[in-house]
Amino acid sequence: MPTNMSIDSDANDLSRDATNEADTTSQLDDAVQTSRLAEPASGSSRDRESRVSQVESPAQARERLQDTGFSTQSVHAGEKRQKAEGSISAPIFTASTFTFESTDSLMRFVDGKEERDEYGRYGTPNERTCEAKLAALEGAEEAIIYSSGMAAIVGLLMSRLSAGDEIVFFDQCYHRSREFCSKHLSRFGVVTRQVPTGDFDAMEAAINSNTKMLVSESPTNPHLTAVDLEKFVALGKSTEVETLIDATLATPFNLRPIEYGVDFVLHSATKYLGGHNDLLAGVLCGRKEALEPVRSLRGILGSVNSAHNMYLLERGLKTFELRMQRHNENGQRIAEFLDQHPRVERVYYPGLASHPTHEIADSQMAGFGGLITFLVKDADWKETSRIVDAAKIPRIAPSLGGVESLIEQPLVMSYYHCSPQEREQFGIYDNMIRMSCGIENADDLIADLRQALDAR
Ligand SMILES: Cc1ncc(COP(=O)(O)O)c(C=O)c1O
Repeated sequence: MPTNMSIDSDANDLSRDATNEADTTSQLDDAVQTSRLAEPASGSSRDRESRVSQVESPAQARERLQDTGFSTQSVHAGEKRQKAEGSISAPIFTASTFTFESTDSLMRFVDGKEERDEYGRYGTPNERTCEAKLAALEGAEEAIIYSSGMAAIVGLLMSRLSAGDEIVFFDQCYHRSREFCSKHLSRFGVVTRQVPTGDFDAMEAAINSNTKMLVSESPTNPHLTAVDLEKFVALGKSTEVETLIDATLATPFNLRPIEYGVDFVLHSATKYLGGHNDLLAGVLCGRKEALEPVRSLRGILGSVNSAHNMYLLERGLKTFELRMQRHNENGQRIAEFLDQHPRVERVYYPGLASHPTHEIADSQMAGFGGLITFLVKDADWKETSRIVDAAKIPRIAPSLGGVESLIEQPLVMSYYHCSPQEREQFGIYDNMIRMSCGIENADDLIADLRQALDAR
């Protein structure tokens, strides 16, 4: 509109000043001529851009964005430069199946001469965009998206392990991952061995000729223990055993396991990657060749996503760096506040010097995220629940990594059905609270926690 208005007023000026008409016309001719001369022989630059971008491969897209910053990657990586109908946002392809123009074109596909979509269980355009974006953010050759973080863990382990194989894992971890390994893999003849988190001597002692994978989180949920990735990878390489890090709590913004040589990196994308508490997804990153059989099994397991879900993930990823900066900032400030509060017995946060693995975390991580676990001094489970209930901003819910702060008492939320002995073994105490700091203002969250802790 403003452009048209200025053209109109220019035109009026021209008609008013007839003496200048010839000069102006020749200036316009010159301008047109100059721009024609500037055009390449094959067409306008806009045509050329659209033709090039329509056929841009993921590798070309990667090259185009090479050496760009983290946020530039999270906004642009994996996306076609020119999308359908010129839309700037991702079109949502809801198709469950993809059509072939002719038997010839089908044969080109089955002969591997043409890469394209076939059937939704094997992958979809929206899923592929997210996979390329996440691979770029992780610095990995390839990423595979699953319907949840647990589906990603199950998908990887089912693909890599057979009866008689063994895995060794550090014992502090998301309780459902532990449950899958100890209760379910065993039914398929896979032996799982748990060793204390960070005890590399114990991990080495547990490795034998059947061991196929070393598994750890970093930092761990809910104790926020950072695992020394140099030692983890060195042990895997010296024993020729593959390594898996679940870096959900760190995210690729704070930790780069692939750069340490970890074979597989896993995230529950439900958490910080999606970031808005409105989707479930998981992602597995690693080398292309190692992930090929894993992708193939996913196509059979069917743990895939709807296009709408993938649109939400793609959209969430656009603001990933900004959100992580705020999560890191809020996590650090709130952990420092809790550390100084007289009603708090202990704070588990890797950004605090008092955390046993602070030095490891500090050397490996760019920031420490928004998850904080703490113990209330001299409080039984009821007194602890009262503090959770008194908080007015965070909502009581499982999960973490979203823009809304969440708070919970692990005893009641996730470990209610465990025996006291099991809870003791997993380090879950009656007076433990876990808080996922969202992106609200830290001052508000601190004031809210202060009133909740001070309420009697
Ligand atoms: C560290 C970690 N890994 C994996 C998962 C499983 O992810 P999802 O809930 O997306 O299946 C969770 C869930 O809380 C988690 O905290």
